[in-house]
Amino acid sequence: MKLLAISSLFLLSAAAPSKRKRQNPPNQSVFIDRHASNVIGSSGPFRTDTSGFFNPTNTTPPFFQIFDHAFLDILGPNPSVRLIGSNESFAFAHEAPIWIPETGEVWFCSDEGGGRAIHSDVNTNNVVSRIRMEEVRVGGDVSITPVPLDPSIQITNGATNYKGQILLVNDGRGNLPPNVVLVNPRPPFNSTVLLDNFFGRQFNSLNDVKIHPTSKKVFFTDKTTGWLNHFRPLPDFPDMVYRFDPNTGDVRVVADGFIRSNGIAFTDDGKTAYIGDSALGGGFLGSNSTLPATIYQFDVDPTSETFTNRRVFAYVDTGIPDGIQLDKKGNVYSGCGDGVNVWNPTGTLLGKIFLGDSSSNMIFAEAGELVVLSDSNLFFAKIKAEGQDLHGRGLSV
Ligand SMILES: *[C@@H]1O[C@H](CO)[C@@H](O)[C@H](O)[C@H]1NC(C)=O
Ligand SMILES: *[C@@H]1O[C@H](CO)[C@@H](O)[C@H](O)[C@H]1NC(C)=O
Ligand SMILES: *[C@@H]1O[C@H](CO)[C@@H](O)[C@H](O)[C@H]1NC(C)=O
Ligand SMILES: *[C@@H]1O[C@H](CO)[C@@H](O)[C@H](O)[C@H]1NC(C)=O
Repeated sequence: MKLLAISSLFLLSAAAPSKRKRQNPPNQSVFIDRHASNVIGSSGPFRTDTSGFFNPTNTTPPFFQIFDHAFLDILGPNPSVRLIGSNESFAFAHEAPIWIPETGEVWFCSDEGGGRAIHSDVNTNNVVSRIRMEEVRVGGDVSITPVPLDPSIQITNGATNYKGQILLVNDGRGNLPPNVVLVNPRPPFNSTVLLDNFFGRQFNSLNDVKIHPTSKKVFFTDKTTGWLNHFRPLPDFPDMVYRFDPNTGDVRVVADGFIRSNGIAFTDDGKTAYIGDSALGGGFLGSNSTLPATIYQFDVDPTSETFTNRRVFAYVDTGIPDGIQLDKKGNVYSGCGDGVNVWNPTGTLLGKIFLGDSSSNMIFAEAGELVVLSDSNLFFAKIKAEGQDLHGRGLSV
């Protein structure tokens, strides 16, 4: 979903920090005074979800918006965010970011091409690419190299680390089934399909995946993306969250009641789960602001691992919440219509990596390194926060 840039929404005197703390914002950052922006006045200008961004300081992106001083602990004293790769003809950096410590690489996948995936060039709508973090650290543009994968992998949308390898979840294409696939992160990048049906029925379009930190089972979301974007048949299931146990082969539903189940994440103790519902952005159904753009929080039942006690964690003010990642302190990061939004574990919006464009997902590499996907653009943020330890997950299975 792309949104039009609107220059200035409000007239604010400056990027003023709260009055009790006179402090200069760090590099590339602005403080947003919540009080100053809380009243616009009857003559406006107001915005709608599909027109404009919340950029009251009218700062040129990319930059960091600080809503709460606790964001300073995430940014550190000298944060930066910069473009490291771009290709206007091709949404090469859409989803499924994964940090592979074993090879020093980050992988991600391209967009399926809106409604054109069945007909358009498979060279652009089904591409998993890789970059070397070593090259990112040096500065300048990075080389973006396609990964040659087996054709059983059609339109990847989610990825996570598993047993030192890569687990991809894929949308499928036409009658080619959505699937969960284990991929060798090293040449020849061979792969094994672990799951491609639920008791004989094809999933809709698998969207995102995480390994539960203690049970090591595979949890994934299924979304009606393929039908909404005209590259899959009519959905055969509601949008739901599944649990897959590779040891026993058991597959079961652990959560439902979503319109568009999207990103997934767990806290380090495995007791809390986050699921994004991106119903607001509905493919050929268009954008509908009366539908959820909401991250829900759940308890994970210690016995059945079903998701219980559903509650709103955060509603996003621009676009939809897409991929969800946590940092080491349990802060929650989601790719939204204006960039990366960051909340503390109690749901306070601390700040944003404001791109003035949508981000579908992001991934921490080494400490303080965040690779941010924005379709035709790839960004790198150097901050202080460290990512949740995802790469060890499943090693002991
Ligand atoms: C601030 O961020 C910009 C953009 O990434 C970078 O070029 C610059 O070096 C940073 N400044 C400092 C002092 O690090
Ligand atoms: C952009 O993507 C297209 C389609 O894959 C490719 O042919 C072209 O070489 C890419 N351009 C750059 C600058 O990487
Ligand atoms: C890749 O091939 C090697 C050698 O045949 C095999 O041991 C390994 O299990 C394969 N990996 C995957 C993910 O299929
Ligand atoms: C938006 O969604 C609501 C709730 O499903 C529905 O009643 C309404 O018709 C939709 N509006 C549009 C313009 O599609």
